[in-house]
Amino acid sequence: MTNDSSHDSNGQPDGQAMWGGRFSAKPAELMQAINVSIGFDRRLASQDLAGSRAHAAMLRQQGVISRGDEAEIQQGLATIEAEMATGTFPYREEFEDIHMNVEARLRELIGPTAGRLHTARSRNDQVALDFRLWVREACDRTVGQLKALQLALVQKAEANADTLMPGFTHLQPAQPVTFGHHLLAYVEMFGRDAGRFSDARRRMNESPLGAAALAGSPFPIDRDQTAQALGFDRPTANSLDSVSDRDFALEGLAAATLCGVHLSRLAEEIVIWTTPQFGFIRLSDAFTTGSSIMPQKKNPDAAELIRAKVGRLLGSFTQLTVVMKGLPLAYSKDMQEDKVPTFEAFDALELSLLAMTGMIHDLEPVPARMAQAAGAGFSTATDLADWLVRTLDMPFRDAHHVTGQAVKRAEALGCDLSELPLADLQALSQGITADIYEVLTPRASAASRKSYGGTSPDQVRAQAARWKDKLK
Ligand code: ARG
Repeated sequence: MTNDSSHDSNGQPDGQAMWGGRFSAKPAELMQAINVSIGFDRRLASQDLAGSRAHAAMLRQQGVISRGDEAEIQQGLATIEAEMATGTFPYREEFEDIHMNVEARLRELIGPTAGRLHTARSRNDQVALDFRLWVREACDRTVGQLKALQLALVQKAEANADTLMPGFTHLQPAQPVTFGHHLLAYVEMFGRDAGRFSDARRRMNESPLGAAALAGSPFPIDRDQTAQALGFDRPTANSLDSVSDRDFALEGLAAATLCGVHLSRLAEEIVIWTTPQFGFIRLSDAFTTGSSIMPQKKNPDAAELIRAKVGRLLGSFTQLTVVMKGLPLAYSKDMQEDKVPTFEAFDALELSLLAMTGMIHDLEPVPARMAQAAGAGFSTATDLADWLVRTLDMPFRDAHHVTGQAVKRAEALGCDLSELPLADLQALSQGITADIYEVLTPRASAASRKSYGGTSPDQVRAQAARWKDKLK
């Protein structure tokens, strides 16, 4: 628990006295076990160093510490940074968290001057700063990953601007669409997701450093200077709020959850499309696995795992919301529980985005299968009705009725709408001419939907071009 020895305090091997060992832990050991956070907040190491460097420079500039002291501190922090980079930095549980680990190491390296770094600062504003910097970087990374995914989708969409497939409602064939159009739907969703991360970033981009424990500082600190040095737009305006809110992380997690929902829907479609029953797309071995017993299987595991990850994302959002709910101002130790769910969520999201991007590049459509399915299920029935309205000036309700009868007749004859004899159509409505066959193929149906944002190949190419331009 508190040391890595394989024997408990009674000299018993853990295997024999596992529970006894736990119960015999002393209060001090239990306290350390529940209090310690270095195991996870070490991920804030680089943010902690950046904050300390900016703080030390500001203290010197304001005459709070001497030039010599600052130089020593910066030197020590540089050594720590190098130790972290080479994996030699000693992360120690006895020093509880990342902030005290850094300070303890600084003291070992430069002596008592290290103690001056914490002037006009508290771990409360320090952790608020470090965590905010971490979430800000995570949002920026995510936006970059989303763009890469969008670009992959746009490229596939452009290459498939006139690849026909059935469009579905209720997962029943509805009207023919193009595969490119379908893929671009997700480009829109991921674009809004990226927008949510950018919005959240804009709001969180205020520096809490200098709020100190909760009330601000009596030292002549310059919060604008540290804010600027750390890339913030401005310092936060209320010290209590600065150390006590984690809404920036919650916004990131909310955006991550929504993005996870979109990823999950696309993943589900990939799962459906790769079934032998659909057979719309193929994935290479790179993103599928075989079965240990059924040699014919090719399972879309990556898509399934992406589909599932939203559980983790929403779980993290829920976890932190519950932690924060009902906490009085200002800092409470509950808030140490903000990190694990946030780290886990962004890790899961990153992996999902990268795997989905890889899968989109990897997938190959099977146009023949898609086209065949695009024509099935009387998918051009709406086109027939629209033709009656446009050409014969029939009210749409009547056209809907005539079309229903045509579908019934085709069903009885076991043929497609485009294969119905003209005489059968004319029996339903006298004015129908052979021209009607031009709108009854899936290709004509898709090509006719030229309205802005519609599925016609021209529209798809135009939207793909717009996105390519935007993602540059
Ligand atoms: N490890 C703590 C956290 O993550 C740092 C802040 C501790 N502050 C305090 N007053 N105990 O929240």
